[in-house]
Amino acid sequence: MQTLYLVVPCVIFFLSVFPNGFCLADTNMKSGSQCSEADYSDTDGTFQTNLRSLLDSLASNVVEHHGFYQNVAGKKANRVYGTVLCRGDISVSNCSDCTLNSTRVATNDCPMSNDVTIWFRWCFLRYSNESFFGDMQQTAVTITNETDFDDPSVVSEGLPFMTGIAAEAPDKSFMFHTAVLNANKSGKRYGMAQCTRDISREDCRRCLDAQLVTFRTVIGNKRRWEIYGSNCFMWYNDYQFYSNGSTLLSAAWRPSSCTSSIIGFILAVSAALLMFF
Ligand SMILES: *[C@@H]1O[C@H](CO)[C@@H](O)[C@H](O)[C@H]1NC(C)=O
Ligand SMILES: *[C@@H]1O[C@H](CO)[C@@H](O)[C@H](O)[C@H]1NC(C)=O
Ligand SMILES: *[C@@H]1O[C@H](CO)[C@@H](O)[C@H](O)[C@H]1NC(C)=O
Ligand SMILES: *[C@@H]1O[C@H](CO)[C@@H](O)[C@H](O)[C@H]1NC(C)=O
Ligand SMILES: *[C@@H]1O[C@H](CO)[C@@H](O)[C@H](O)[C@H]1NC(C)=O
Ligand SMILES: *[C@@H]1O[C@H](CO)[C@@H](O)[C@H](O)[C@H]1NC(C)=O
Repeated sequence: MQTLYLVVPCVIFFLSVFPNGFCLADTNMKSGSQCSEADYSDTDGTFQTNLRSLLDSLASNVVEHHGFYQNVAGKKANRVYGTVLCRGDISVSNCSDCTLNSTRVATNDCPMSNDVTIWFRWCFLRYSNESFFGDMQQTAVTITNETDFDDPSVVSEGLPFMTGIAAEAPDKSFMFHTAVLNANKSGKRYGMAQCTRDISREDCRRCLDAQLVTFRTVIGNKRRWEIYGSNCFMWYNDYQFYSNGSTLLSAAWRPSSCTSSIIGFILAVSAALLMFF
């Protein structure tokens, strides 16, 4: 019943997706994971130590950075780059929990991989021994119910509606956007799109557009679907699955004190310096 379609340009990954959890309720769940086949040669445990410190730093900083955080740990061959992104509408505590859970799942599911992607419905985690910051990639999977067709009167409106969201999301301050489609006879449809904030607005636009093109025939006539990529994400459903009261993206969580700005600056400088070693 459940089908998934994926586009993975790179072949050295084990990808697993769990469409059996596709359900109406907006509960968090693991949507998939991708582990590189190559193990890290970690004779002295340095990579593991760096990874541990990277994952801790991602989990503890993601909330105050409005649900998106990147960091680097270690030097030279043992350096590891990481990104986390929370869905823009979820609460601060659920963002924090989801991130923490994703780091546990990553080290559990892909214990020796040095390039790992974990998709949860509410958050996204990626780390790699190679830098991927700012480098838009088209790897994506879609999850939908193959037989859950939408009302024919809505089908002609669904993709244009999501194309509109894909056009607007890149211009939003957090590259996150939701909208409601009033389909007269069949109620409403709800859409959401989000990009990781290390890519440009132009790349965000290209990423979302490409997903709609790639999966057009699969999602075009469906009532509910989700697309999980490496740099952009889309959701479509027939009920308001997102929350519109979250403070994750609001000003309340901006690091406000002088101290945290200075610490942020020092971290940025150290990260920049690390690049040279
Ligand atoms: C990352 O790991 C892969 C696989 O072990 C290796 O081929 C590649 O050279 C590594 N990249 C860096 C920058 O160390
Ligand atoms: C976190 O998610 C749960 C559902 O798993 C939800 O019941 C709860 O309200 C969310 N927390 C907040 C603060 O929104
Ligand atoms: C995180 O994992 C715990 C333990 O498995 C679970 O109870 C909790 O609901 C998860 N939280 C989120 C946001 O996924
Ligand atoms: C898929 O959709 C069909 C038709 O709406 C429904 O009968 C079926 O239960 C759905 N399958 C799952 C696993 O949700
Ligand atoms: C809904 O109905 C109104 C008035 O009957 C019409 O103007 C509008 O185009 C319809 N919208 C859709 C999405 O069909
Ligand atoms: C959230 O969305 C609901 C339904 O669209 C709306 O009635 C409500 O006013 C919204 N709340 C906020 C805080 O925007």
